[in-house]
Amino acid sequence: MPVLLSVNQIINMKIIILIGFMGAGKSSIAVALSRKGYIPLDLDRDIETRSGMTIQDIFTRQGESAFRDLEEAALKCLDPLVDTVIATGGGVVGRASNWNTMRQLGCIVYLRTQWETLQGRLNGSEDRPLINSAKRWEEVRALWESRLPLYEQADVIVDTDGRDPDAIAAEIILRTAEFKQCR
Ligand code: S3P
Repeated sequence: MPVLLSVNQIINMKIIILIGFMGAGKSSIAVALSRKGYIPLDLDRDIETRSGMTIQDIFTRQGESAFRDLEEAALKCLDPLVDTVIATGGGVVGRASNWNTMRQLGCIVYLRTQWETLQGRLNGSEDRPLINSAKRWEEVRALWESRLPLYEQADVIVDTDGRDPDAIAAEIILRTAEFKQCR
């Protein structure tokens, strides 16, 4: 029986998709991976470019559900052609169709971070609508807890607390080396 190879199996391309809660360091790790030769893509920036609005404006004017539609559409439109790292927004894991898209794109890596670290980083954050609208930290923590089982469905889980972004990037490259792209 003939074996069908996908495009990125043939050209040996690697796509890494970073998931994790707000403040997990997805953007910084994408930058660290770019220093190691990956093209960085940021889904939130892509949404802002496509819509001509900031994430905050989308939430304020159109609401979260409209943002999730834009997020789902932007993810579907990504078409990386070389080794690429995609930093997603923390809530991308909430829709099943996003999982289908991400699994087809490449290897999904969860940046796992303890609550105390996240809270420290998110304290004072002004450009995150879900943090701005939360009345108490317990609300944000409950959101984080509700998402944990989703993040854990990633192909690779990397612990990030107290670690240097370059060391995390090196671990990601090592642990995704054997991953079979399925596109
Ligand atoms: C969100 C996370 C944000 C952004 C939006 C919603 C979330 O991205 O997509 O504000 O639902 O967790 P970061 O995780 O990069 O902050």
